[in-house]
Amino acid sequence: DKGTYPFYMLKEIDEQPNVMRKLAQEYLSDTGKPVISDDLLNDMQEADRLYIVGAGTSYHAGLVGKRLFESMTQKPTEVHISSEFAYEQPILSEKPFFIFLSQSGETADSREVLVNVNSGNYKSLTLTNVQNSTLSREATYTLLLHAGPEIAVASTKAYTAQIALEAILAKALGERDNQIVASNFDIRQQLGLVATGMQALVDEKNVIENIAKDYFLNTPNAFYIGRGLDWTVSLESALKLKEISYVQAEGFASGELKHGTIALIEEGTPVIGIITQKRTAGLTRSNLQETMARGAKTITIVASKLAKPGDTIILPDIDEHLTPLLSVVPAQLLAYYTSLNKGLDVDKPRNLAKSVTVE
Ligand code: F6R
Repeated sequence: DKGTYPFYMLKEIDEQPNVMRKLAQEYLSDTGKPVISDDLLNDMQEADRLYIVGAGTSYHAGLVGKRLFESMTQKPTEVHISSEFAYEQPILSEKPFFIFLSQSGETADSREVLVNVNSGNYKSLTLTNVQNSTLSREATYTLLLHAGPEIAVASTKAYTAQIALEAILAKALGERDNQIVASNFDIRQQLGLVATGMQALVDEKNVIENIAKDYFLNTPNAFYIGRGLDWTVSLESALKLKEISYVQAEGFASGELKHGTIALIEEGTPVIGIITQKRTAGLTRSNLQETMARGAKTITIVASKLAKPGDTIILPDIDEHLTPLLSVVPAQLLAYYTSLNKGLDVDKPRNLAKSVTVE
């Protein structure tokens, strides 16, 4: 039931702070330690490489997961698009461990990979929102996202739930291996800050609604740019805009623009820079400048501690590992309001199904 909400998508965006709290409740002890089964952690610890597999938004959550696992566990981690991975002949490491990301647990391409994984007798884990879904039943282990039903076709709370759960898992695995980054990462405190930060962002909807009107209502195209984790969020942000508002959007590694794509920038093209990582903030800012010099209308989504006068959307500060959980929220809302302002059916965009059960 969507209650007083005009569309499920807005309700689901608003539910994200509670989903963060729910995940902390489900997966952290009173003292803030991850509670994950020993069998699962042993199998992951024994692996020499993690393979994350997903489609669409779940693939994008995997791109964030790679960075979390590598930073906290030092285990090499690959991320694959399921429809590609299923039909390649990947050279696997000696002891691979597979992590499937799937909100629905029914995506046919991801299932095809799992069938191959099982025929090779490899261990696997599914992170899913749906108990007893196909991918949950057929994997060695399952962890539930506890996000509540996601009805809108455009995925929002499942993306943030997947990232939060990956962070909990990376923390648990890294700590077990005495990795300093993992041990120093206060996951409970951070998820608390994330929940509060998300709440502050969704409480400022009207600001984002106005930006959506000014920048996206009449544009045929738009760019999200960033580096590292911010790049992965720009891919997800562009997907949201494309699928529900039909604005042709690209998520781009900001340093790549001048290797060709900057030719597309015209007078008034919206370019949104996501800036949450200290190491690359200055670089993304100068890439934004380059687009501005060619006529782009720029917007910034910036972590508070990196903010400068003139920035558009300021994100509350949290640990740099988890910034995708905040930076994606304004992008979800920008997509939502653009779709709404165009009078489209936000929850049921054309040509799309919630769960893609054909390959
Ligand atoms: C985009 C979206 C899709 C799904 C994709 C995978 O908003 O919802 O890209 O993320 O179809 O679906 P699941 O996660 O159910 O495997």
